[in-house]
Amino acid sequence: MSEPKQRILTGIRPTGALHLGHYVGALENWVRLQDQYECYFLIADYQALGDHFDDIERIRKSVLDVTLDWLAVGLDPNKAVFEVQSAVPQHAELHMLLSMVMPLGWIDRNPTLKTEMQKLEDENKTLSLGFYNYPASQVADILLPKAHLVPVGEDQRPHIEMTRDLVKRFHHMFQVEVFPEPDILVGRVGRLVGIDGQAKMSKSLDNCIYLSDDEKSVTEKVRRMYTDPTRLRATDPGHVEGNPCFVYHDAFNPDTAEVEDLKARYREGKVGDVEVKRILAAKLNAFLDPIRERRAQYAARMDDVRDILEAGSGRGRTIAEATMAEVRSAMRLTYTEKAG
Ligand code: TRP
Repeated sequence: MSEPKQRILTGIRPTGALHLGHYVGALENWVRLQDQYECYFLIADYQALGDHFDDIERIRKSVLDVTLDWLAVGLDPNKAVFEVQSAVPQHAELHMLLSMVMPLGWIDRNPTLKTEMQKLEDENKTLSLGFYNYPASQVADILLPKAHLVPVGEDQRPHIEMTRDLVKRFHHMFQVEVFPEPDILVGRVGRLVGIDGQAKMSKSLDNCIYLSDDEKSVTEKVRRMYTDPTRLRATDPGHVEGNPCFVYHDAFNPDTAEVEDLKARYREGKVGDVEVKRILAAKLNAFLDPIRERRAQYAARMDDVRDILEAGSGRGRTIAEATMAEVRSAMRLTYTEKAG
């Protein structure tokens, strides 16, 4: 008999449609992983409430948008579990129990949380207790299906380390082993620059190309794309490194010989930005076409999409309930159980 597959859990906050940054940083990797592992893909709507409790409508829309984007890029609900956090009530229970086990100091030392809190403060948003406590919620996400691996970006590393520390602490406190200590799995490409040249493609920076953008808006966004600011004329020698046009060519133009040729000519001042961008827009649209097509097919039958989430969340509940039975027993929350 073959070994049972190792388990993966990863998730996304439903706060908007997904973009090319999500694709190279996560989705492309997930599509491969779903064949090799037992995968749980989580739509973390509770976590989204942490800083978007004032915009429920956006979360509602994004849950379905994210699902469509997942299906469009080739994530397959027959291979992987698509689940919604709030449809798995065991999540709330484990989150609460883990909050008892986790020292407050761990939250204060989490650099990712610190950065995000600073951002909320800069935006004059009220910091809720739920937001402050979300790393414990993410630990619960990972532990409910007893994941071995968590594919995420570098920025999520502190949360995975916290998960490992909490597993050790839980086992030590209750003297039984319930969970594997999960490892982080970092993707091939860390992050993608925005079309404005900022380090990160991000909805809040308004510098994204979305997986759901139509051909015309992609072409228009590429036309406006930031290039080499030191180059004034097409005959000036240009810089390729860090130039978003070439970062995107590297990531999305499968014709590497063409990319190398463009780079060489760009450095020598023998090709203009207009030409580089014209080719890039065509390649991006060719890359996005099959994604758009699949998205449209699913968008035409939204009830099936809702069924996929309902069925996946059901599987999520089953595995989560099995884990919770072990957790309640480990913590001896079994007062009414009668002796044998
Ligand atoms: N915090 C992650 C992000 O912002 C999303 C997430 C929620 C997640 N729960 C998770 C990632 C569990 C990995 C595992 O991208």
